[in-house]
Amino acid sequence: MNPSPERPPHAGHLVGARPEPGFDISVDGRPVSAVPGQTIGAVLYSNGIKSWRTTRMGGRPRGLFCGIGVCFDCLVTVNGEASLRACQTEARPGDKVTTA
Ligand code: FES
Repeated sequence: MNPSPERPPHAGHLVGARPEPGFDISVDGRPVSAVPGQTIGAVLYSNGIKSWRTTRMGGRPRGLFCGIGVCFDCLVTVNGEASLRACQTEARPGDKVTTA
């Protein structure tokens, strides 16, 4: 299911950071810097944000774990679209990411 036609689902097309001018995205209202081609998970991690949600049972921290779209530990909301895997979602200028 892909409720957002502007943000296609990951289909193996992520190629990594590109040597182009960076941009900011918003994470819980805070501006963080991104490099074109980075996933939102990479943006969070490179800005020192290592965990951004907790487990329902026990409240244990979660962030990037597998990094390949399998574990779903990295879920975020991007521009109001919930439950996107941060490790599989490319950051775009002006994205508004919310966690937890
Ligand atoms: S880190 Fe496992 S799905 Fe994203």
